[in-house]
Amino acid sequence: MCRLDKYLCDSGAGTRSQVKALLKAGRVTVDGVPEKDPGRKIDPERQSIALDGERLGGKRRLTVMLNKPAGYVTATEDPDQPTVMELLPPELRHLDLKPVGRLDKATEGLLLFTNDGDLLHRLISPKREVPKVYYARHEGRATAEDAEAFARGLELRDGTVCLPAKLEPLAEGESLITVCEGKYHQVRRMMASRGMTVCYLERRQEGGLTLEGLPRGAVRELTGQELLTLERLSGGDTVNMLEDI
Ligand code: URA
Repeated sequence: MCRLDKYLCDSGAGTRSQVKALLKAGRVTVDGVPEKDPGRKIDPERQSIALDGERLGGKRRLTVMLNKPAGYVTATEDPDQPTVMELLPPELRHLDLKPVGRLDKATEGLLLFTNDGDLLHRLISPKREVPKVYYARHEGRATAEDAEAFARGLELRDGTVCLPAKLEPLAEGESLITVCEGKYHQVRRMMASRGMTVCYLERRQEGGLTLEGLPRGAVRELTGQELLTLERLSGGDTVNMLEDI
């Protein structure tokens, strides 16, 4: 059994607020009877759920992690370049998984995919972005002043102001950077604004999840515990999550 609104989100009907509007408008039926209560408990195995008269298939809700190699663009399709979708194993290709945010073509590391529209929306919402940790190799040495500038909130060369972030120099030309937003080329531009050109970038963590044990190019499903962590960090409904796990 699960909540009707969650089932609709998981089936790709829309985000949680869109689903709420669909229900309110009377466009959803359970066994042919219009249903407006988002919290209605349903059994998708036994009941027929329809949107605008069309039965929903109810795909399995899934969130996976890829250890992205360089050379793939983060896009669902691209006419000229290989995309991260090609790295998903064939059995996962028909589940409508979408990349959560993006990594540049040259960037390696942790990239999430989900078919949970609500989770996707929350994870990429500028209001709730979860912390992401990057390892960078770069020109020059990051100093304490650079770290202070990151902590205050950097102004990029085009005038864009970033949220406060963390810069931890590791060695000459190597640093860890933690950011809670996902602007275009963000880490490369932040480092460039302090005179350090990034020559290698790897996302090592996102919302407490790490790449540990996952070889480059490999994909694995998140555990129930990892999903709960992500839900909590992104402000999701952990009560509903617990029902599903
Ligand atoms: N910041 C970047 O500059 N590139 C990425 O791929 C991710 C974060």
